[in-house]
Amino acid sequence: MEPLSHNIKHVAVIMDGNGRWAKQRSHPRVWGHVRGSAVVSHIVQEADDLGIEALTMYAFSSENWSRPQTEVLVLFNLLYKFLKKERARILKNNIRFKIMGDISNLPEQTKKLIGQLESETAHHTGLKLTFAFGYGARAEIAYAVNRFMKANPGKDITEDALNEYLMIPDLGDVDLLIRTGGDHRVSNFMLWQIAYAEMFFTETKWPDFTITEFRYIIEQVAKRERRFGAVAPATSLQDNIIVARENQRILRG
Ligand code: IPE
Ligand code: IPE
Ligand code: MG
Repeated sequence: MEPLSHNIKHVAVIMDGNGRWAKQRSHPRVWGHVRGSAVVSHIVQEADDLGIEALTMYAFSSENWSRPQTEVLVLFNLLYKFLKKERARILKNNIRFKIMGDISNLPEQTKKLIGQLESETAHHTGLKLTFAFGYGARAEIAYAVNRFMKANPGKDITEDALNEYLMIPDLGDVDLLIRTGGDHRVSNFMLWQIAYAEMFFTETKWPDFTITEFRYIIEQVAKRERRFGAVAPATSLQDNIIVARENQRILRG
């Protein structure tokens, strides 16, 4: 495929719509999770091929604990299976793998596998692949502030300091947030890091999401102008002259 020119470094994905996808096909919700988990590997591969530096996938939120226990167990199992299946490819492709969130309630064997893969890939310099699991952004911000206060008693926290105390500081700000499944909300995902992210919401439910749509989104978003609160660069000398004249007029009153 054609190489794609873009300056998107960190992509975050809210993989939503699995349950509805299954329901539409008269299957139990968990069938949607099974099909959805197969999509993840393709997107990881494509992100790597497109030269994206960090890919953060929302797999299980802190609020998802309130789902039926059977569904929660299926999601744990799928995480375990994914790690088992993808381990070799993650190692081969120099991918750095991390989990972001509270996984203390996960089965011991899953925690062990996560620990192994995290340490085996800690020195990897390729794609930073992160699964947000048991993750909530408000909890992450509280965690960062608490750690800062312990380390710096009596000091005021700054934006830079907060960045340093996040769960995985080197992920940096999110450039692009994609949500599948048709809802237009962020559901407690990376609230601090998306301050200036471009947002892309698609109706496609996660199990139907393809690398073609992923590429299309990157292509579309790469064309957008990101201003970060500034103005677009002046297009011509003529513009600057007009602005200078206007300013003089305002100052004169
Ligand atoms: C997203 O799909 C996966 C998780 C939240 C774990 P959902 O399970 O939320 O699917 P819908 O939104 O109910 O269709
Ligand atoms: C967000 O989806 C969490 C994940 C995709 C893991 P939800 O389905 O939990 O979000 P809401 O409930 O629609 O906001
Ligand atoms: Mg959902």
